[in-house]
Amino acid sequence: MSVKVFETKEVQELLKAAANLNGGNGNARFQQVVHRLLGDLFKAIDDLDITPDEVWAGVNYLNKLGQDGEAALLAAGLGLEKYLDIRMDAQDKAVGLDGGTPRTIEGPLYVAGAPVCEGLAKIDINADADAGPLVIHGTVTGPDGEPVANAVVECWHANSKGFYSHFDPTGAQTDFNLRGAVKTGADGKYEFRTLMPVGYGCPPHGSTQHLLNGLGRHGNRPAHVHVFVTSDDHRKLTTQFNIEGDPLIWDDFAYATREELIPNVVEKTGGAALGLKDDAYKSIEFNVALTSLVQGKDNQIVNRLRAAATV
Ligand SMILES: [Fe+2]
Repeated sequence: MSVKVFETKEVQELLKAAANLNGGNGNARFQQVVHRLLGDLFKAIDDLDITPDEVWAGVNYLNKLGQDGEAALLAAGLGLEKYLDIRMDAQDKAVGLDGGTPRTIEGPLYVAGAPVCEGLAKIDINADADAGPLVIHGTVTGPDGEPVANAVVECWHANSKGFYSHFDPTGAQTDFNLRGAVKTGADGKYEFRTLMPVGYGCPPHGSTQHLLNGLGRHGNRPAHVHVFVTSDDHRKLTTQFNIEGDPLIWDDFAYATREELIPNVVEKTGGAALGLKDDAYKSIEFNVALTSLVQGKDNQIVNRLRAAATV
């Protein structure tokens, strides 16, 4: 039988006590957020008649999610990370800040500490027989359209098995394979010599895929390359571009695809002279337009736990 208890004094007092709302001690913002989220959960239990069995299944799921270390992956898969981007886009619009390369999600697989190279970096450190050579290049410009010197372009992407270095369960990659950082010169140009990535999926037996299975969703991403661009005088850009032609481009489980982030893939020759593994190679031009600081500050810098390594 359905009962409604959420609005009772007893439950409202319980919520306030649990969050220590107005309790004097603790962090007021944290109390406010916990009170709201817990209240939304309690209300959902009431509204949907969520059973004790279902609640405990959820609690145990959180334990498993933590054991698997997949909470950030789930955040991407449930659209939470995309939602934060939608909000930041709306905040930009509200202050009249438009233009610039669109942001998209960072995902959980960045590793800080890649050595910074001037202008160009060759980042295919480990052999990968199934991946062809790829050159990624472009120009970083500011809001005035002029090249930006001393911007640092970082990229990271998967190998031909869909694994990222540092997180590769096969152990086939060293820490900064297919990851790099390039500082632009006066011409604003950067270049990475690397290998073509493929798309990948969530760990098939992990808790993210388990939840997606329950929703009848797949956990796959199209092939893509992650990009950070930092410059002292501009806002940091967090974005990705997709590899043109991937069938999942518009069916990304993490909702990262944007129309402006699908550059053309161009077939080229002359790779041998560039030190690539084959003479025929693919080339992608990905130009980056940075946005201005807002009142002298990067108003949308995102702090989150990130992996780090040293060379
Ligand atoms: Fe990725």
